[in-house]
Parts: sequence; C-alpha cells; structure tokens
Amino acid sequence: MYIRDMWRIYSFTVLFLIVVFSTYCSAVNETQFVNTTKSKLKILGVFGHLGKSHFDVFEPLLKELARRGHEITVISYFPRTDNAKAKEPLPNYKDINLTDPKVGVYLDIIDLNQLKPSFFHVINDLHLLRSMADFACNTGLRHPLITELLRSDEKFDVILTENFNTDCFLGFVHHFKVPYLFLSSHQIMPWTNNDMSNEDNPSYIPTIFMGLTRPLDFLDRLTNALIVPFLKVVYEYWFRSADQVIANEVFGSNLPKLRKIAEQSSALLVNTHSSLHGSRPQLPNVVEIGGLHIPPRINPLSKDIAEFLDNAHDGVLFFSLGSMIKMTTMPQEKLDAILKVLDSIPRKVIWKWETDELPHKMDNVMTRKWLPQFDVMNHPNIKCYLGHGGLLGLSEAVYVGLPMILVPMFGDQFHNAAAAKTRGAAITISFNDLNEQSLRHAVDACFNDTSYRENAQRLSKAYRDRPATPLKTAVWWTEYVARGNGNPYFRSEGADLPWYQYHLIDVVLVLIIVSTALIYIFFRLIKLLLSLLSAIKGKSGSQAKEKSKLKKKD
Ligand SMILES: *[C@@H]1O[C@H](CO)[C@@H](O)[C@H](O)[C@H]1NC(C)=O
Repeated sequence: MYIRDMWRIYSFTVLFLIVVFSTYCSAVNETQFVNTTKSKLKILGVFGHLGKSHFDVFEPLLKELARRGHEITVISYFPRTDNAKAKEPLPNYKDINLTDPKVGVYLDIIDLNQLKPSFFHVINDLHLLRSMADFACNTGLRHPLITELLRSDEKFDVILTENFNTDCFLGFVHHFKVPYLFLSSHQIMPWTNNDMSNEDNPSYIPTIFMGLTRPLDFLDRLTNALIVPFLKVVYEYWFRSADQVIANEVFGSNLPKLRKIAEQSSALLVNTHSSLHGSRPQLPNVVEIGGLHIPPRINPLSKDIAEFLDNAHDGVLFFSLGSMIKMTTMPQEKLDAILKVLDSIPRKVIWKWETDELPHKMDNVMTRKWLPQFDVMNHPNIKCYLGHGGLLGLSEAVYVGLPMILVPMFGDQFHNAAAAKTRGAAITISFNDLNEQSLRHAVDACFNDTSYRENAQRLSKAYRDRPATPLKTAVWWTEYVARGNGNPYFRSEGADLPWYQYHLIDVVLVLIIVSTALIYIFFRLIKLLLSLLSAIKGKSGSQAKEKSKLKKKD
C-alpha cells in the first residue's frame, strides 16, 4: 500500500514536471515581435502653429497616449476645454496654454477678397507662411510659461513636434536631449523631404504647393522641377536663418544649426494615404497615418438636424468651407451665383455659415454656425459634399465615400483637390471660375453622374483597409521611438550628404571628364594611326615611283 502511494506520487510529480517544463520550453521558444514592457513615458507635444486644423489631426494621438498611462505635456494654443475634461478627465494630460485672449487663434480669418489663386499664389503662400512663422516663434517661444518650462528641471523621454513652416521649436529637442518625431498634418513639405532624405523626384511626385494633377505632363514636370528646388532654397536661406536668430535667443547661442537638428528626427508621421494622394517611395520611418483625426464612432445628430436630413429623400448637399474662411467675405457676385444654384436644385442643402441669417431665406436650405461635420456626412441622405479641399473634411468625405465638389482656395487645398479629382471622386472648380454655370454643372454631376459616387465608394474601401488603424500606428511609432529604437536604425544616410553628392553631381562630373578624356585620347590615337598609315603609304608610293623611274631608265 505504502509503496504504491509513493509510486503514484512519484509518477504524478514526474508528469507534472514534464508538463511544466514543456510549457516553459515552448514559452521560451515563442517568438516575440512586440516589446511589451509597458513603462510610463514622459512625452512632450509641441504645437506652435495657431491653425486649429493642424492641431486637430494629432489631438486623438495625444489623448490616446494619456489614456495609455503616459504622462503628456502639450504646448499649444488649443488646451482641453472644461467640457472635454468633464467628459474625460485625463489627469496625466497637462496643457501649456499659449493662447493670448487678445490675439486669439486662426479661425475665420481668411478674407476671400484677398485670394489670388493664380500661378503666383506660391509667392503669396510663402509670405503668409513666413509671417505666421514669425508670429509663432516670436510670441510663442517668448511666452512666460515656456520660459518657466525651460528653467525647470523637467525631463522627457520623447518629443512630438509639428512639422510645417518653422524649425524654431526644435530648440526643445536640443534642450531636453531626447529623440523626437515630426508630425505633418498635411502632405510632406519639400524641405522636410530634404531633412529626412525622403525621395521626392519631381518627375512624378507633385509638390504640395502647386495642385498639379497626376500623372504630370511636360509642363507640370517643368513647373515641378523648378519649384521644388526653389522652395528648398527659399526655406534654407530665408525661413531657417530667420528661425535660427529667434531660437538662439530663446535656447541659447550654443544651439546647433536648426537644419542639423531637423536632420535627426526619428520618424515622420504624415496625414496622407496612398489611396488618395498617390503612391510614392517613403523611407521606412515616414509613416502614413491619414485619417488619424477621424473619430472612432458616429454620434447621433441633434433633433432638428436629424429631422431635416431624415426627410430629405431626394438627397442633401453638405456645404462647408472649414474653420479658416470667413464666408461673409465671399465676393457678392459669387455669393449670388451660389445662392441662385442652391435655390434652384430639387435637393436639400445643409450649410455651415457663420452668421445667423442668409441674405434671403430658402426653404430647402438649413444653415448652422457650427455643424458636427463627420456625423452629418455619415447620414445616408447626404449625397454630395461641397468644400474647399482642406485635408480634414476631405479625408472624412473619402472615408465616408461621398462624391465631392471642391473649390480650393489656399494652402494645400489645390494639391488635395487635385488628388481627389485624379481618383474620380471629385469635381474641382477654381475660385476664379466659380460662377452660376460652373457650379450648376458641378452640382448636377455630383448628384446625377453615378461615376463620382462609385469612384468615391471604391476609394473609401481602399482608404479604410489597413493593417492597423492610424491611431494604433501612430501610438506604436511614438512608443517605439521613445524606447530608443528609431533614429539609430532608420535614419537615412542620404541626410548627411550635401546636395551635389546626393544627386551624384560629383560622380557625374568625374564620369564626364574621364569619358571626355578617353574619347579625346581615342580620337588622337586614331589620327596618329591614320597619319602613320598614310606616311607608310606615301613612302611605299614614292618608292614605287622611283622603281618605275629606274625601270624606264633601263
Ligand atoms: C439631376 O437630374 C434631375 C432629373 O433630370 C434634375 O431634375 C436635377 O435638376 C438634376 N440635378 C440635380 C442637382 O439634382
């Protein structure tokens, strides 16, 4: 009896050990591709630009990082509102609020009478970009809260910073000596391609500034090939040198060249997606997170709006020109044309119009100063979107699968509108050509030509279909870089090359010189050979003559 029990216990123990050991072995052998050590990171977000849409793209990322337990400090003009805090407190999300109530932010500031949508809008754009950068650097960086932060002994693990029209905020990277990521709320700026050494061959990659339609024809390529290097030179010698002066004052005169810091970013997150903006080569640390701002769920509409849309069985046009444009500055004859067309179509219209009353009342039109854009777009009766090609509204429409009419007005809107047009999902009208006839034609096409709807829905499918959501992708890259894995492995050596080496100009020059020399030597040799031959021939000829002379004498 005793021995049998011992035997049982013994065999159980052996079995148990075998089971434990084999699970242990399989656990040891299991491959692990994600570093799951969840440490709490200290993250600094730097958003020096006063345009709200630039911040809106990345706000979901900042909040998600806070939700994941990281401690996040955000320098911006867009602190979390009390309302937002009541809904979701996020105690480890701290704002450094740069807003000056006397100055405000860029909302409803674009005066449509001032627009010059022509070839020379690039010069206007550059002036606008520079003046916004001057303001952002001069007032933003000298804000008392920034001074306080720089004097404190605060430490961070990683910095997220907006990439747009200035590098003066890169001083923070030098000050805190941590890895950082660039965030681009739009197509990559030409100078950023340079800093990262990301491919931007002007023969087929249209620059963000021009609104060229792919594929580029000869004139487009000529324009693109001239404008891209022009913009890079302008940025280097005008923008960056101005930024450097301010940054040196704020961060100290031992601040390295801003270009050197800009060349050290660990990754660049870009608010585009190939399905919309087209295929192009990207470095592995240039990551598309297009649609990052699109909310995870659709909220129910307020009763009045829901009623208006539910009863619109013939379809509704959604009309919004975003947050920057003052609709009341629309030139009178253009406004008249818009009203006339909207009044006459057998459809309803829901319009973001920032003053209370329309010039005259129309039964089929509902106006609101503010609209929950994404929720409205998702209503099944919305059949067409009239907008300006701002990337947030455009991305939402692409996500939803709405056909569009786009009237690009400033900034990257020309570029975005051209992209949507290339995909067959949008009709574009240039602001100069906006009149009753062109708008009527576009509205008819948007509602009645089914190809736009079909293309928009196909595009929507491709746009949504990804290995991970843009938010997950952005979070992963932030944490990856914070773990120290970005820059040392992903940075392109191209960034260290001067332009003539990057474009192999030195190599080409040497090849030209060597091959010219070889060709020259070759021809000299042939000449020499020929003259030798003819000399020999001449000699033998004269010998023959002499011989015949001698013969005659005989
Ligand atoms: C579309 O076609 C219908 C029927 O031909 C017409 O009544 C309407 O005006 C057209 N345009 C729009 C925007 O609905």
